[in-house]
Amino acid sequence: MILIGGSTGQLGKEVVAQLLRHNAKERFVALARDPDKAKIYIDQGIEVRYGDFDDPGKLTAVFDGIDRFLFISTMSTNRGEQQGLVVDAARAAGVRHIVYTGLAIRDIERSGVRDLMASHFETEDRIRESGMKWTFLRNTMYAEAIAQIIGPQALSDGIFLPGGIGRVPYALRTEMGEATANLLLQEGHEGKIYQITGNSAWSYTDIAASLSRMTGRNIPYKEISEEALAATLRASGMPDFPIWLTLGTIRDIRNGQYEITSHDLEMLLGRAPKSLDQMLSAIFA
Ligand SMILES: NC(=O)c1ccc[n+]([C@@H]2O[C@H](COP(=O)([O-])OP(=O)(O)OC[C@H]3O[C@@H](n4cnc5c(N)ncnc54)[C@H](OP(=O)(O)O)[C@@H]3O)[C@@H](O)[C@H]2O)c1
Repeated sequence: MILIGGSTGQLGKEVVAQLLRHNAKERFVALARDPDKAKIYIDQGIEVRYGDFDDPGKLTAVFDGIDRFLFISTMSTNRGEQQGLVVDAARAAGVRHIVYTGLAIRDIERSGVRDLMASHFETEDRIRESGMKWTFLRNTMYAEAIAQIIGPQALSDGIFLPGGIGRVPYALRTEMGEATANLLLQEGHEGKIYQITGNSAWSYTDIAASLSRMTGRNIPYKEISEEALAATLRASGMPDFPIWLTLGTIRDIRNGQYEITSHDLEMLLGRAPKSLDQMLSAIFA
């Protein structure tokens, strides 16, 4: 039996939808912490088990009879410690195989968001040391996040960010969910690290050009300083933590930290992932 962690989140919902498309309802159960959010699954006759990663003592029942656990990472600020305890609970309960969704980045030690993102690699280490079988899905940046980062004014005024000429191999969360569901239903992925990325990588100049083609208007990309972006974000009322995350992530983009491209997503999908034009059309439709 497969357990889908984070099943009520955005990526988890895509995974569940794809598992249903494969008629695999009897092969998985959904982990949720909020009964209201889990109602969508109860209504479809999907088994739901309730648990909170911040209460690992109660996860024994959640992991009972589970062979394979899709561990979708959280965004908790204590993520390293929290997720480590979840790994321990899974091992103690006899889970055989963990599939963990981490991060596709070149050098975590030089990352502008190291303090949060290093916990992905600490969790991978904890899983390796546990003796359970593992598969690591190192996910690139969701294409869906482009809209948030470039802001609502991008389609009228242009893109103003300190991203330089750094490129990111964006992929749609829908396609990442589809690839993850395919993997969960297959054998032979144990001990593998997959870089879940697009087949190409794109800069903000590429995004601006794509949006220009899409809208028929000239949408420019203009480089600004980190200080200028920080001032704009502060003026919009954004709290300190998301400001730190946004600035550090864009610094990583500028420094080429996301420039990893692989064909692992294509392999798991069984087709090429969507192009930048196709992704932006889907996002801005
Ligand atoms: N690749 C990227 O661009 C990117 C961007 C942002 C985040 N991420 C990472 O990818 C993960 C999945 O993305 P997403 O868009 O699906 O995020 P999401 O919608 O926030 O989903 C996170 C899921 O984790 C669950 N969760 C969080 N804390 C938990 C806890 N203490 N116990 C049990 N479940 C808990 C949430 O439960 P509830 O539904 O009850 O809230 C939710 O189902 C994120 O959590 C983050 O680590 C990646």
